[in-house]
Amino acid sequence: MTVITLEAPRTAHDHAADYAGMSTDELDARIAAAKAKLGDQLVILGHHYQRDDVVKHADLTGDSYGLSVDACRTAAQYIVFCGVHFMAESADILGRDDQVVILPDHSAGCSMADMADIEQLEDVWEELEQVLGAADAQVMPITYVNSTAAVKAFVGAHGGACCTSSNAEKIVRWSKAQRPKMLFLPDQHLGRYTAHMQLGVPLEKMLVWNPNQRYGGHTPEAIREAEVFLWAGHCSVHAQFRPAYVDAWREQHPDINVIVHPECSLGVIRAADYVGSTAYIINTIKNAPAGSKWAVGTEINLVNRLQTHNPDKLIVSLSPFACLCSTMYRIDPEELCWVLEHLAEGEVVNQIEVPAAIKRSARLALERMLEISAT
Ligand code: 13P
Ligand code: SF4
Repeated sequence: MTVITLEAPRTAHDHAADYAGMSTDELDARIAAAKAKLGDQLVILGHHYQRDDVVKHADLTGDSYGLSVDACRTAAQYIVFCGVHFMAESADILGRDDQVVILPDHSAGCSMADMADIEQLEDVWEELEQVLGAADAQVMPITYVNSTAAVKAFVGAHGGACCTSSNAEKIVRWSKAQRPKMLFLPDQHLGRYTAHMQLGVPLEKMLVWNPNQRYGGHTPEAIREAEVFLWAGHCSVHAQFRPAYVDAWREQHPDINVIVHPECSLGVIRAADYVGSTAYIINTIKNAPAGSKWAVGTEINLVNRLQTHNPDKLIVSLSPFACLCSTMYRIDPEELCWVLEHLAEGEVVNQIEVPAAIKRSARLALERMLEISAT
């Protein structure tokens, strides 16, 4: 009989294969040892959606806005970013030139950021120019930080700013004061919620811009009439929540509070009791009375952690299905251990480096955001 020897299964991240199969205790001990060796030279940043076995090693946790601020302020030379690609890019853009940003898994991307590429944006801008004349005078480009560095650079070079879900209201208000029209990308839901529900722009004055169609799928007359162009992008995690889930929870628990992230659709936001960024969701629930009940419309790792940290309250996911940010989940303790141990030996692996030419203009957009949100 021929015996066929199969190769041992490889992990998705072959470079970390040596670390696969290690016990949690061993991984924790090796991560702690590498951190101790690096001392103040290192800071580990962890987004709130990061899995528990990774986020427990973070020195600072936060939402996209908080982590951008942390990246600006840290004195550490090495920033290990446990988040997704655009977040590590933002840290590299905002950090000092001598700082090194590492993303433990380069395949940890963001499906929303991938919905707006720079070539598409350049084409859309050209079409806006064709219809409106000088777009730079007419249209303010505003990009959610969940976008590539190249998109941020385009926005910065055309006088626009970034925003996060924590400061979108201030940034959109600023945009309205500067130019009569706005192009908001890539998240149509955050753009619609902010411009319509927070700042009162009528829905009839908003067009969803499909970048794959000429003029976004609209007539020149409709473009001239509109005030806000919403890029046809969305978050594949938050798009899964439905207004019917709100009804189902209320039927089961008439006293439940529904709180959702503004990346959810307008129907879900309208049905909810509260809406805000991940930091807002965390603080609202933390400050709520004991015994209160919460159905939360955001990423499942955060929802589960909220329940752990608030055992005196009932906290459930708004969705009956696990809404997981599967790309952020790709960063695991094995890879974190792998990058830290190499760093402790003086070798940088999985660095994120934004090219200098892109960095300059992208920095403008991020700095404008930080300036406007500090006012
Ligand atoms: P915030 O961190 O701004 O709340 O955004 C959530 C998110 O989807 C991050 O990618
Ligand atoms: Fe991107 Fe959505 Fe994941 Fe945030 S939760 S990183 S927007 S896919």
